[in-house]
Amino acid sequence: MSDRYAVFGNPVSHSRSPDIHHAFAAQRGEDLVYERIEAPVDGFPAAVTAFFDGGGRGANVTVPFKEEAHGLCGALTERARQAGAVNTLWHRDGVLHGDNTDGAGLVADLRGQGWALAGKRLLVLGAGGAVRGVLGPLLAQAPAELVIANRTLARAETLVERFSGQGVALHASALEALNGRFDVIINAISAGLHGDMPALPEGLVGDATVAYDMVYGARPTPFMEWADAAGAAAVRDGLGMLVEQAAEAYQVWRGWRPDTAPVLARLRHG
Ligand code: ATR
Repeated sequence: MSDRYAVFGNPVSHSRSPDIHHAFAAQRGEDLVYERIEAPVDGFPAAVTAFFDGGGRGANVTVPFKEEAHGLCGALTERARQAGAVNTLWHRDGVLHGDNTDGAGLVADLRGQGWALAGKRLLVLGAGGAVRGVLGPLLAQAPAELVIANRTLARAETLVERFSGQGVALHASALEALNGRFDVIINAISAGLHGDMPALPEGLVGDATVAYDMVYGARPTPFMEWADAAGAAAVRDGLGMLVEQAAEAYQVWRGWRPDTAPVLARLRHG
């Protein structure tokens, strides 16, 4: 029988994860089935239990269940503990284990673009769950400074308290109080895919600034359009992060890291 994997979310019908994991498996002729499972918003624990009781080998978790998944685990990796959220699950010796590969996926994709963070001035827009999930790995890249800017300043300040003490100058800012030029700007304001960009001060983007949106879509996001119009050197969406976090999860489950480049190219160009 094929090894069974799944992604849990609600909604989940749009998820590209099955395509990605099936492409990874094909690289070594591994036999696995990876499905989408839409758990009821109040039924995530039961759905996960049923999946693993039925022989499931591993699962990914997406919106809105990542925090709940963190609470269900009997064992967590350090990065999952720090993130307060889990996107990768597996069972070992009767214990549900959880990891968070989002931050490693983001860093891997940034590195793949040739965007080093070490010594750079880094701006992160947003202070929700998506940001908490990636801050640890971003700080581990040793930027010179990391500013978290959010509409609700208090949420940014809470993240600064939680993640301070890692040897990086970490600051919270209101969006309208931002100033100075940044080398790298990462967007995790979730209104970014459909809604409008919140107004930001001028001068944040220079001609060497690179801009990254953690979401992706068929068209450039409002954030990407804003960065492009402001003269950024390069602008990218989060499709590469999606593929890289999947490769990290695949490695956790199966012990080898798939080649992401051909999978990303196929997703991007159909
Ligand atoms: P996610 O898991 O995507 O991070 P979240 O935890 O709900 O989701 O966080 C959403 C983020 O987008 C927050 O930083 C939110 O700002 P607030 O903390 O002030 O709510 C930000 N956001 C959403 N809509 C926004 C808007 N219209 N303008 C500015 N920020 C917005």
